[in-house]
Amino acid sequence: MYRILKAEMLADKIYLMDVEAPRIAKACQPGEFVIVKMDDRGERIPLTICDYNRDKGSITIVFQTVGASTEKMADLKTGDSFEDVVGPLGNASEFVEEDLEEVKKRKYLFVAGGVGTAPVYPQVKWMREHGIAVDVIMGAKTKDLLILEDAMREQAGNLYVTTDDGSYERKGMVTEVIKDLVVNQGKHYDVCVAIGPMIMMKFTCLMTKELGIPTIVSLNPVMVDGTGMCGACRITVGDEVKFACVDGPEFDGHKVNFDEAMKRQMMYKSEEGRAILKARE
Ligand code: FES
Repeated sequence: MYRILKAEMLADKIYLMDVEAPRIAKACQPGEFVIVKMDDRGERIPLTICDYNRDKGSITIVFQTVGASTEKMADLKTGDSFEDVVGPLGNASEFVEEDLEEVKKRKYLFVAGGVGTAPVYPQVKWMREHGIAVDVIMGAKTKDLLILEDAMREQAGNLYVTTDDGSYERKGMVTEVIKDLVVNQGKHYDVCVAIGPMIMMKFTCLMTKELGIPTIVSLNPVMVDGTGMCGACRITVGDEVKFACVDGPEFDGHKVNFDEAMKRQMMYKSEEGRAILKARE
C-alpha cells in the first residue's frame, strides 16, 4: 500500500497528492511517470511525476478529475492509501541523460498548458538545480485554473503567464507569447519543451516549426499496462509507430501525428478515457 502524506486541491477539479513511495522516489527523474490504482478493481491511471523528495521517500502527483475514477481518487485524504503505484515508467527527459556542459550551452523555453504545468515543473526545477536559468510560459483557460505558479516562479529564470480569457496577466494563447518573445523581443531558443493538452501541443509545434525551434512534447495518451504490451498508447512519430509508455513519453513534437493521436484517443473505450479526452479539448 502507498500512503498519502498530503492531499490538497490546487484549483477547480485539480488535486495534488504527496504519496509515500520510497523506491520510486529514489529512482525517478524528470519526464517519467507512474500508474496508480486505487483498489483491486480500480482503473489504472497514468500520471507524470510532478516532484519527488528522495529523503522523505515521497513523490508528488497532480491530477484533474474527469470521470468516475479520478473523482473517486479526489476523495482520498491524507492517511489513505493507493493499492498500487507502479513506476517510474517511461524515459527521463533527454537533457537528464546528456552531457551537462552541452545542456548548459542551450537556451531552453518551457511551455506549460493547464495541468501540463505539473510535468513541466520537475524539469524546470532540475534545470535550476544544475545552474541553468530557463524561460517558462504558463497558460490556462482562466486564472482559477492556473496551478503551481509560485512554485514555478521560484524555479524559472523568467516566467510569462497567460490566460485565454485575460482574467490574469496576459490575455491569449501560449503560442502568441512564444511569437512575442521570439519575433518582437528577439529572444533566441535552442529547444522548446511543450507539455499540456494535445491541441495546445499541436499548435505550439506548428508555431515553433515556423520559428525553427526544435520542440519536445510529452504525450499522455490513455494507457492500460504501461509496459508496451497492450498497444493502447500507440502513436505515430515521423514514419514510425511508437508506444508512448515505453518509447516516450517525450517525443520530437515536429514529427508527432497529433491529429491521429487525438482521433485514437477518442476511440478509447472506457468512460474515463472519453472523459479525459473531452477535458483535454
Ligand atoms: Fe499499453 Fe503503452 S500502455 S502499450
